[in-house]
Amino acid sequence: MESCCIEQFLEGKTIFITGATGYLAKILTEKILRVQPNVKKLYLLIRAPDSISAKQRFNNDKTVFPVAGDIACNSMGINSELKDEMCREIDIIVNSAATTRFDESYDTAIRTNVLGAMHVLKFSKQCSKLMMLLHVSTAYVCGEKEGLILQKPLNYGEMLNGSSHLDIDVEQKLVEEALKDLQDRNATEKEVTLAMRVLGIERVRLHGWPNTYSFTKSMGEMLLGHLKEDLQLIILRPTIILSTYKEPFPGWIEGMRTMDTFIVGYGKGKQKLAMGGRETITDVVCESVICIYSVPYVSWYKSVHLLTF
Ligand SMILES: NC(=O)c1ccc[n+]([C@@H]2O[C@H](COP(=O)([O-])OP(=O)(O)OC[C@H]3O[C@@H](n4cnc5c(N)ncnc54)[C@H](OP(=O)(O)O)[C@@H]3O)[C@@H](O)[C@H]2O)c1
Repeated sequence: MESCCIEQFLEGKTIFITGATGYLAKILTEKILRVQPNVKKLYLLIRAPDSISAKQRFNNDKTVFPVAGDIACNSMGINSELKDEMCREIDIIVNSAATTRFDESYDTAIRTNVLGAMHVLKFSKQCSKLMMLLHVSTAYVCGEKEGLILQKPLNYGEMLNGSSHLDIDVEQKLVEEALKDLQDRNATEKEVTLAMRVLGIERVRLHGWPNTYSFTKSMGEMLLGHLKEDLQLIILRPTIILSTYKEPFPGWIEGMRTMDTFIVGYGKGKQKLAMGGRETITDVVCESVICIYSVPYVSWYKSVHLLTF
């Protein structure tokens, strides 16, 4: 879709973005407000106990409404009066919230990347005029496969090593049981976190993914595909999102997670070289939202409107 069509498409629309304090959602929000100042309303989900705290985490203007919430909770923890209003108004939902830590505690990763995705879907189904739910996933749901990998939806219960069946309910139960056991043994917070990280790594290895992040993002995709019914769902699978290329200025970069570690090391003069294979292709996204929403990374169900700026 041409960028002018997208700008027109966004005119007068009410958009709800989760993960609003995260890198990607900030770039998206900036871009929407810059290219289409006549967007009707932007609801931004901010993890905060109440609306006053949410506002404190956000510099408010008249188009932008910070909403206090947590995707790990039913209805994302949004109070029912506001939720009803949002459900009447929202045209587009972008679910960018996630825990992006590769070795996250298994309980947190399941609550956020799996159940969180499901809560966003349930909320979306209650929005009377919703045009689409756009869920940001990751290219690495494919695990460590090599060669040409086609963008296909993950089947519910599919395991990467193909050995048996992945049961998301069983994974949830395992977490609950492990947490109860730790509680019974009066484990400290630190011990709980460590045990949950180890449990995540064990489950990941069993099912064939490289880390807890990509495994739980995969389960999130599976649940969405399984429960979506006739909802317009788009799943985006970016590779590594690194920085902006030109807009709103070159080199907007945040965090130190993947490639950015090398860049910071190089920028500070600490890292003079990085070893690599001559034939290795490093796939990173360096553009403000343009490449992220390009077709190769998109899996879609039913007919979709692609947000390609
Ligand atoms: N960055 C990449 O290279 C990359 C690559 C591929 C895909 N992705 C996907 O792109 C999306 C955005 O990534 P990002 O780089 O912007 O991540 P990020 O900077 O780590 O931001 C994550 C956002 O999610 C929020 N969040 C986490 N748990 C939440 C919860 N329970 N309830 C509500 N909000 C919650 C965080 O809020 P707090 O500020 O409160 O923590 C933060 O706003 C994610 O879905 C990620 O999987 C990222």
